[in-house]
Amino acid sequence: MKTHDKPAAAVDPSKPETIPKFIDDLPIPVTAKPNHREGKDYYEITMLQTKHRFHTFFPPTTVWGFNGQYAGPTIQADSHKPVHIKWRNNLPDKHLLPVDRTLHGVEGNPEVRTVVHLHGAHVSPDSDGNPEAWFSRDFAQTGPAFKRKIYEYPNSQPGATLWYHDHAIGITRLNVYAGLAGFYFIRDPFEKQLNLPDGKYDIPLMIQDKAFHADGSLFYPENSNPPASVNPSVLPFFVGNTITVNGKLWPRLKVEPRKYRLRFLNASNTIGYTLRLGDGREFYQIATDGGLLEKPVKLQTFLLEPAERAEIIVDFSKFQGKKMILQNTNVEGDMGVIMRFDVTLPLSKKDTSQVPEHMRPTQFPVEEAADKIRLLTLSASTDKYNRPVFLLDNRTWDDPVTEKPVRGSTEVWKFINLTDFPHPMHIHLVFFKILHRRPFDLERFQEDGSIVYTGPEVEPEPYERGWKDTVNAAPGMVTSIIMEFKEFTGDYVWHCHILEHEDYDMMRPMKIVDGPEKF
Ligand code: C2O
Ligand code: CU
Ligand code: CU
Repeated sequence: MKTHDKPAAAVDPSKPETIPKFIDDLPIPVTAKPNHREGKDYYEITMLQTKHRFHTFFPPTTVWGFNGQYAGPTIQADSHKPVHIKWRNNLPDKHLLPVDRTLHGVEGNPEVRTVVHLHGAHVSPDSDGNPEAWFSRDFAQTGPAFKRKIYEYPNSQPGATLWYHDHAIGITRLNVYAGLAGFYFIRDPFEKQLNLPDGKYDIPLMIQDKAFHADGSLFYPENSNPPASVNPSVLPFFVGNTITVNGKLWPRLKVEPRKYRLRFLNASNTIGYTLRLGDGREFYQIATDGGLLEKPVKLQTFLLEPAERAEIIVDFSKFQGKKMILQNTNVEGDMGVIMRFDVTLPLSKKDTSQVPEHMRPTQFPVEEAADKIRLLTLSASTDKYNRPVFLLDNRTWDDPVTEKPVRGSTEVWKFINLTDFPHPMHIHLVFFKILHRRPFDLERFQEDGSIVYTGPEVEPEPYERGWKDTVNAAPGMVTSIIMEFKEFTGDYVWHCHILEHEDYDMMRPMKIVDGPEKF
């Protein structure tokens, strides 16, 4: 029998200071098993209510999980080999979490709405998980954009760490918080011959903040968005008081003294993490949202806002016997600790993996090649109930579509952040390149709408120079990105990936159209 530092009786899930850290081993999400493989992999994955233990000393917590798993099962896909998934909802009729007043008709509708989006995937609109393509249990009710039960993922894209999660209109924050998220890896032959650490040395890390009631049930505030008359300064957000990785609180991972590939995903509702390993150990970043970089980037720290991914290679070989804490330097205290790596396992075989000198050669589009430049504001406002909300381009989700890129064209989008908060802006279907961020005169903009820059262009951070699908649009900055619209036409979305912002109303439709000519 194992002995632990503290008896279970002293642990109160609502009081983080009573929860001992590094007790549980980091779980690795199970690999999803296809129902059959015939030219394509076919899966049926069902959303279920289930019990999950976030910590050895916690009672079981009721959560929602894909196939009853928290985190969801990892889907292993090969580039260019299609995967078809029937996403099924077998959740109870009543939501696990308080459904406070919500936009988009969710209020007063008892049925639990879900839809699944594969974040980072190049897919047709019908399989993208449009927020209005929601379905309730057994498809009893469906949203206005619902088209099909079986989603088709062609995987016609290079290897990358993708993730799937709920995206139902007005209620994504609660569905994802309840547990509806998982990994989806695409691998390709080029990546395989690079000799990166693989198998049990390739570790996914899904980081989420949580809060609990004393009985171990999930805590989410009754009202994440009170009316402005209650507190005009309260904007929608959620910040937990504990950290989970792959569904365990402050876990530890016993590692061998060798190289590991770590795939980080921030699947939190609102908060970002500035990650650092053991007081500033060096490691190599090898991938961003869109997969492998041209060259590894040597780093000691990086920022991961919601939905962003970063892959790194850490060499533990010089740290035999050491215990290294993965820190979040954004805050002090419990939330400043993510997990611990214990370099206590013996080396089971010689480490022949490597940090390659060169990885994927990449041609990024250049600013001069843009067919269109869009100026898009990020601003705070109030909704019809006088509650604080955020807006994109001063419009709500229900306003008619205004972003209509032409297939075959290249666009630059400039996010003008008028708030004092960073917003992780995500665009479906495409990967983009971050061009730069540039400080501007906010007062001047509010006076007459003119953009007066107050400093030079700031290059993207060293860790965000690959393909991205989510970008930190920093306050006080105009953040410029460039992308090409290649294969698909139809209805997609773009939004802030802070889930409380997305729900309260920082999401907009995007329609890719066939133009008469390129422009
Ligand atoms: Cu990960 Cu539209 O979202
Ligand atoms: Cu997405
Ligand atoms: Cu936001």
